[in-house]
Amino acid sequence: MIDNLSVAPVHEPERQYYFMDLCKSIVLNKENEYGRKLTCHINTFGCQMNAKDSEKLLGILEEIGFVESEDEKADFVLYNTCTVRENANLKVYGRLGYLKKLKEKNPNMIIALCGCMMQESDVVEKIRKSFSFVDIIFGTHNIFQLAELLYDRFTNKSKKPTVNVWEGTTEIVEDLPQIRKYPFKAGVNIMFGCDNFCTYCIVPYVRGRERSRSSRDIIREIEKLVSEGVVEVMLLGQNVNSYGNKEEDEVSFAELLKMVDDIEGLERIRFMTSHPKDLSDELIEVMANAKKVCHQFHLPLQSGSDRLLKLMNRHYTKEKYLSLVDKLREAMPDISITTDIIVGFPGETEEDFMETMDVVEKVNYDSAFTFIYSKRTGTPAAKMENQIPEDVIKDRFDRLLDKIQKGSDMKTKQLVGQTKKVLVEGVNEHDDSLVTGRLDNNSVVHLKGDESLIGKIVDVHLDEAKGFYYYGTIRTGNECEC
Ligand code: 5AD
Ligand code: SF4
Repeated sequence: MIDNLSVAPVHEPERQYYFMDLCKSIVLNKENEYGRKLTCHINTFGCQMNAKDSEKLLGILEEIGFVESEDEKADFVLYNTCTVRENANLKVYGRLGYLKKLKEKNPNMIIALCGCMMQESDVVEKIRKSFSFVDIIFGTHNIFQLAELLYDRFTNKSKKPTVNVWEGTTEIVEDLPQIRKYPFKAGVNIMFGCDNFCTYCIVPYVRGRERSRSSRDIIREIEKLVSEGVVEVMLLGQNVNSYGNKEEDEVSFAELLKMVDDIEGLERIRFMTSHPKDLSDELIEVMANAKKVCHQFHLPLQSGSDRLLKLMNRHYTKEKYLSLVDKLREAMPDISITTDIIVGFPGETEEDFMETMDVVEKVNYDSAFTFIYSKRTGTPAAKMENQIPEDVIKDRFDRLLDKIQKGSDMKTKQLVGQTKKVLVEGVNEHDDSLVTGRLDNNSVVHLKGDESLIGKIVDVHLDEAKGFYYYGTIRTGNECEC
């Protein structure tokens, strides 16, 4: 008898296509047995990198023969987890109780967990002990191996889960299938991992060292996306500004952006996330001169206090950060600037916090994500003394939110009365006479229209601002302006 494992190709992605084929015939047999298609459901937690990984995971599952199900009553359920803050982990543990009940009703159900949380050995230990009904566990570095792991699960008769978590990798596997959530816009990974080791952050431990994709592979992927109807791409990386920084890389992020800007048929380019320490003058210049790069910049501040920024290992000062904002606004007066801020980092005093409030006042962000500091085991900050009491954090958090809200309300109102380009993304969830789209600066706009507009970029007069979104009317160019 031929042993399927010993004849499997060694190289990727051929090896994974081989396992996809093997899984396909197993799934087909089950289909005949059940008299229906097998279903799968992926629940994605966390950031855009995870959302992108889930598109790849779904691509593999559909290639194998699963059809996507809206809910978790499926034959294969996969949680793609996040661990950046403690509550992300708690959410997963909470949902696992529900999955257990589903599996009791359908013992053939396969439950798999992957992503950042699985890179933590104590988490895997806990799942093996307390959630022994989980069938497959894998991490961030080998998501491309889903078919191989599933084949192991299908053929391995032992009750033990299939666990395969890699500590790190330099490997980037190209050309696997993916199912995109939107036909007209797509995320494109340009680099993976992070080398910054901000002292509060677990990402470098769970996503590994920085590695960039070759510019050739990135351009090839975007050209293919455009040929399939994509008009907007979001270049993704934990720290896109350090794309191409390693000796072996041939192109910097600014150069890459220029190359993407030249792709015919593409209309909008966004990128996420940037680190202030790596934001170069060259990048600002390229952005300002580009035809398609959206005038939107996510520039995480984390704290406005030089003392805390040092303790956080951020490598910039408040003054340097503010000067970057000035440079961005000088080069692109209409630029929208957003940020991430952490409240309650160990040792944060009222004076430190007021420095953060001062930056918020001076920058006047379009919007900001605010986070309560969460202690992550294994990071240097978790061992720092002087963790801040909850009530103090809560008070600061509320004051910060209030300030950000006031600033962003004012910003939103400034665009009312102007006509701007909107990429229509879908029919409004609450009112089907409306469609919803996004401005260049990423703000949401609701306007009268139907699904024929989805995927199109239209001129829209912004009639009214409501919180962080707008109501608008399509302009055809024939309106009377009197
Ligand atoms: N606690 C709170 N917020 C955190 N972030 C990262 N690690 C932590 C943590 N331990 C925030 C940072 C980062 C965003 C993605 O998550 O602000 O920019
Ligand atoms: Fe975390 Fe800092 Fe890396 Fe961002 S740059 S992922 S905050 S370590």
